[in-house]
Amino acid sequence: MLILEDLTKTYRTWAGEVTALDGVSLRIDQGEFLAVCGPSGSGKTTLLMMIAAMLRPSRGLVRFDERDLYALSVPDRARFRAENIGFVFQMFHLVPYLNVLENVLIAAGAVKKNGQKIRARDLLQRLGLQHRLGHRPSELSAGEKQRTAIARALLNHPKLILADEPTGNLDAENARGVLQHLQGFQREGGTVIVATHGPAAREFATRTITLRDGRLI
Ligand SMILES: Nc1ncnc2c1ncn2[C@@H]1O[C@H](COP(=O)(O)OP(=O)(O)OP(=O)(O)O)[C@@H](O)[C@H]1O
Ligand SMILES: [Mg+2]
Repeated sequence: MLILEDLTKTYRTWAGEVTALDGVSLRIDQGEFLAVCGPSGSGKTTLLMMIAAMLRPSRGLVRFDERDLYALSVPDRARFRAENIGFVFQMFHLVPYLNVLENVLIAAGAVKKNGQKIRARDLLQRLGLQHRLGHRPSELSAGEKQRTAIARALLNHPKLILADEPTGNLDAENARGVLQHLQGFQREGGTVIVATHGPAAREFATRTITLRDGRLI
């Protein structure tokens, strides 16, 4: 499903160049649950952003279902991302003045389809949030916030979920809950890539890779 070829990212800063990712080649099949491990600064977020069609590589290719993502025009790439990729962040990134249901329906702005409200309610029920639909993020626990973010990532039936440290702000029990929901998506045929420092995701992963200084080791 995904082929990464010689993926390299060099950031230019006032202090000089930083090579965040250095020649990563990798094949990821549909149905995998891939854990990307490695210490802080090893390039995990950079890798996820490039797979998410949000960060152009300095060198190399990202092929998603035979498409060279960075050969697409900007609007085509944005549409491709909205239709195929869900993103879950460590910091949740929920809109504070919208309630749980409205936060999930934000993703409906990117892909217009009928029945999105029914789908959002159904997802929130499956994630155990049916009693929190009208609550604002400030009234939720961290685990509930992250499950709301997962519902938002799932709304448009993505093929791929990218999660960057999705359990970094959760206790062990809530972390397991979040990983179990991601695993549920994978077991239904979805593909999951999780960047993580911690060991928890390894238990759910079908494969683990490790980055160090931007290289696959
Ligand atoms: N926008 C940027 N400009 C310059 N350098 C950057 C930028 N983003 C990341 N870097 C550098 O690239 C390297 C890889 O960063 P990245 O965020 O991908 O690491 P990470 O593995 O996700 O780390 P963490 O576990 O702390 O989230 C780091 O050395 C970082 O300082
Ligand atoms: Mg990171």
